[in-house]
Amino acid sequence: MITLGIESSCDETSVAILKYPNRVLANITLSSLKEHKRYGGVVPEIASRAHVETILPCLDLALKRARLPGGQARVALDDVDLIAVTQGPGLMGSLLVGISAAKALSWALRKPLVGVNHVIAHIYAGFLPGAGARHASPLRFPVLGLVVSGGHTMLIRMDSARRIKILGNTRDDAAGEAFDKVAKMMYLGYPGGPEIDRLAKGQDPAKVLFTRPTLSKDSLDFSFSGLKTAVFYKVQSLTNTKKLALKHKKEISAGFQEAVCDVLVEKALRAARKEKLRTVIVGGGVSANSRLREKLRSAGKKEGLQVTFPGLVFCQDNAAMIAGLGAALYKEGRRDGLDLSGYSDFHSDLWK
Ligand code: KG4
Ligand code: ZN
Repeated sequence: MITLGIESSCDETSVAILKYPNRVLANITLSSLKEHKRYGGVVPEIASRAHVETILPCLDLALKRARLPGGQARVALDDVDLIAVTQGPGLMGSLLVGISAAKALSWALRKPLVGVNHVIAHIYAGFLPGAGARHASPLRFPVLGLVVSGGHTMLIRMDSARRIKILGNTRDDAAGEAFDKVAKMMYLGYPGGPEIDRLAKGQDPAKVLFTRPTLSKDSLDFSFSGLKTAVFYKVQSLTNTKKLALKHKKEISAGFQEAVCDVLVEKALRAARKEKLRTVIVGGGVSANSRLREKLRSAGKKEGLQVTFPGLVFCQDNAAMIAGLGAALYKEGRRDGLDLSGYSDFHSDLWK
């Protein structure tokens, strides 16, 4: 089954072609990130206009690049069996561009349409080919998903594409949002995660120590706003009379990153123990973080867990994960009509 996937929830326009369950034939992503940088965050109006301009070039390029398995034959629109599209959560104006394109294709080609939850798709990304690996890992449920993105920090149990249980959720700022805001306090530019990751390399994370926000003993929820405030006061105390020195930027980056990673690792292990799950997939933009990869891999190894991080292309927003989860949902009976609408928040039952 060949699925055409479309992603447009934030600032990345992406179109992918995937053979079920996880063979990526093409995955084209264009980002409007550069246009947002000067504003220090994604501007919804700019993002949706950019999607309108890039969605058809992405589709054309995906069709041009994709080759059917086992040969050199190109993929034509007629070869597509299913259209999958990000339904939410995301920016409504951005989502609507992808959804409109998906509906138009579904109607014109007379092919079924499936709406996909973007956060759950970040977990499915763990089944796509890894960095350098030619072959994707087989779909093996159940898994524990830790999604750490700009908008969400969630622990999710996945027993199949449709059977989802939310174990832990964001109480305030998501992990990626905290990275971005802390970076902004230190004038590191947007998005801040990659820059904090870079500055923290080789630093002693204990030099500037922050309290780990774990909430109650058994809680699987996340709260990073207090940590963000602690960083704010630390930065203020160092910049009363002068600019923040690079040395301090590095030390604060390392101390902050370590605190976030410790919380994520501790809660992921707690959830795995509680749910008796042996496989952990980490998804979303923050899963690109090198320290998180290092710490979770080593902690997981000690507990006998299989910890999977998607390849870097599939950590960021991409349509391959949407096509993959869409196809798996379709196999489990999910169908949508041309009345499909987007949702901006993590909707409690629309993903099924
Ligand atoms: O999943 P994503 O691409 O978009 C959303 O769906 O939100 O995540 C974007 C987030 C940003 O907050 C960015 O700062 C963060 O992922 N990020 C990182 C790293 N690379 C991207 N955070 C920490 N370390 C990184 N290496
Ligand atoms: Zn995302």
